[in-house]
Amino acid sequence: MRSYDEYKELVNNNLLKYIPSIDDEAKTLRESMEYSLKVGGKRVRPILLLAACEFAGGDINEALPYACALEFIHTYSLIHDDLPCMDNDDLRRGQPTNHKVYGDDIATLAGDGLLNSAAELMYSELVKCKDADKIKNHAAAGYEIMSRSGVRGMIGGQVADVINENKKGTKELVHFIEEHKTGDLITAGVLAGLDIAGANVDVKNDFEQYAMNLGIAFQVLDDILDFEGDSKLIGKTLGKDIDQDKCNFVCIHGLDAARTELHRLTNEAVDCLEKYGNSAAFFSEFAARLENRNK
Ligand code: IPE
Ligand code: IPE
Ligand code: MG
Ligand code: MG
Ligand code: MG
Repeated sequence: MRSYDEYKELVNNNLLKYIPSIDDEAKTLRESMEYSLKVGGKRVRPILLLAACEFAGGDINEALPYACALEFIHTYSLIHDDLPCMDNDDLRRGQPTNHKVYGDDIATLAGDGLLNSAAELMYSELVKCKDADKIKNHAAAGYEIMSRSGVRGMIGGQVADVINENKKGTKELVHFIEEHKTGDLITAGVLAGLDIAGANVDVKNDFEQYAMNLGIAFQVLDDILDFEGDSKLIGKTLGKDIDQDKCNFVCIHGLDAARTELHRLTNEAVDCLEKYGNSAAFFSEFAARLENRNK
């Protein structure tokens, strides 16, 4: 297996190549899509996809388009999340948000364009497969990504997030929001990587538990950082969750409980892979890296 930095470089070097060619008449769409992809990001989801594929003995070159498709979907979710009709944010990844540069109309379409390009990219890989097992593996990866980013996954979580602003949410509702708006895309990365490699159902079950704990921990820390992080490092305007009275872990349980929960979930994630010993070291190190992140 490779290192975090090697996986990240692979994603960064290939992401833009996978945007379909766009006619000159719609040139601004390409600029807007590229703008949000290029301003960087941690690339957590595609890195997990590539690492999971290699862990299970798969070919990283087969996984790369799926990793980039997943980052397209994540980036579209951020563009839409920042729109004035949603979280109304001006800063993302240290730069003005997409709609601040290109306007609400083009930003909305750039989000749509990234989502559609992701599906197009995955289908284009699928139609190239000749072997029946490969077709099955690629189709399973595509299904994982599209279903977990869809109405029962990320989109459903985002809906619960926006309609519960200014309401006193329950801890079950907070859990639903974290699980779906964030946990599902992170889980999609891990499971799609395993699918490409044709991993068996037991391995997939263990890694699904790992990824969901990791994903929820990731959102809990995002919420903590919104309260007490460094805006310059994070590249977002902070303090927004309390202003918008979001239904999240910190707003409901407080900062101390959130730190405890972050640690508990991270340990739980690592424990899910205990039986794989050193061969799964990448994933326990990754969990520790995410727990200790400050951006
Ligand atoms: C931000 O995701 C939105 C959440 C789900 C918390 P990331 O923290 O992964 O954002 P980038 O991709 O690194 O900018
Ligand atoms: C957004 O959660 C999760 C997405 C699906 C985009 P947040 O609204 O907390 O993410 P940030 O803080 O704006 O990155
Ligand atoms: Mg949001
Ligand atoms: Mg937001
Ligand atoms: Mg946030």
